[in-house]
Amino acid sequence: MSLLTINNAACKGCGICVQACPVSIIAMSNNKTPFVSAEKEKRCVLCGHCESICPDSALKHNYLPEMTPIRREKLKEVTSENIAEYFRSRRSIRAFLPKKVDKEVLEEVIDIVRYAPTGVNRQMNRWVVVSDPQTIRQLGEGVISWMKTMIQANPELANRLNFVGLVTAFERGNDVICRNAPHLIIGYTETAYSTGAKDNTIAASHLELLLPAFGLGGCWAGYLMVALQYSPDLKKVIGLDDSYTVHSALMVGYPKYRYFKTPQRKEAQVNWM
Ligand SMILES: Cc1cc2nc3c(=O)[nH]c(=O)nc-3n(C[C@H](O)[C@H](O)[C@H](O)COP(=O)(O)O)c2cc1C
Ligand code: SF4
Ligand code: SF4
Repeated sequence: MSLLTINNAACKGCGICVQACPVSIIAMSNNKTPFVSAEKEKRCVLCGHCESICPDSALKHNYLPEMTPIRREKLKEVTSENIAEYFRSRRSIRAFLPKKVDKEVLEEVIDIVRYAPTGVNRQMNRWVVVSDPQTIRQLGEGVISWMKTMIQANPELANRLNFVGLVTAFERGNDVICRNAPHLIIGYTETAYSTGAKDNTIAASHLELLLPAFGLGGCWAGYLMVALQYSPDLKKVIGLDDSYTVHSALMVGYPKYRYFKTPQRKEAQVNWM
C-alpha cells in the first residue's frame, strides 16, 4: 500500500501538502498529483500534517487512523470541551506569512508564560527574541556549519538525524532550520541553575500553546536549540556566553495555512495504581 491516496476529483494540485511535510518527502507528479516515492516512505514521521492541512479533504494518509475535523467556529467559551479541542488542534507551524508580529503582542505572550510553574518558584527563565532577518539567517547558517562538523565528528548521530539531507536542502535554498520564520524566541537560564532545563521547557511549551490564541503559530526549532547548546560560537550570535544555557527555541509568526483536521496521536500509556 502506498503512503498517500489522493482523490483526484477533489485535489486542486495546490501543493500545500508538499510544503507542509516537515521531512520534504512529498513531491508533485507531472499531472500535479502529490505522491511519496517508495524509497522516501520510511522517512515519514506520521505527523499527519499532509492530510490535516489539505483544504479539499483530497489526501488520505494510509497509515494513520481517521482524523477529527476541527470545528470552524471560534472557541470562545472556556469549557473543558473547548480547551481540549484547542490543545488537540495545536499544530507545529512551518510556513509563515512574510509579516512581522508587533512587539507588544510578543511581549504579552512572553509575559503570560511567567505564570508557568518553576522549580521552588525560582522564576529564572530568560528569553532572546530574534526578529532581524539577517541574524535569523546567520543562526540557520551557523546550525548548518555545526551539522557539517558533526557529520565528520559523529557520523552515527549525523546519519540518524539526516544531517546530510538537511545540509543539502538548506544549501539549495530550503530553510529547513528556521523555516523562514519572522521571529525566533529562544529560552535560556543561568547554567548554574539546576532546574533550568525543565523550567524553561515547560515555559516554552506554554508559549507555543498560547500562540494560536493570538492568531499566531510556532514550531520548536530543535536543530537550532541543540546547536546552541553545543556550539559556543553560535551562542555568541545571540549574545550569550557559557554562564547561560539554551533550553528552548521556537519559530514564531502568522501561519500561512490553516489546518482542517486533527491527526490522531498514540494512546496514552498509563499505569493506573
Ligand atoms: C523538542 C522538539 C524539537 C523539535 N524540532 C523541530 C525542528 O527542528 N524542526 C521542525 O520542523 N519541527 C520540530 N519539532 C516539531 C515536531 O516535529 C512536531 O511536534 C511533531 O512532528 C508533531 O507535530 P505537531 O506538533 O503538529 O503535533 C520539534 C518538536 C519538539 C518537541
Ligand atoms: S493539499 Fe490537497 S488539494 Fe492541495 S495538492 Fe495536496 S492533496 Fe491536492
Ligand atoms: S505524515 Fe507528515 S511526514 Fe508523513 S508524509 Fe505526511 S506530512 Fe510528511
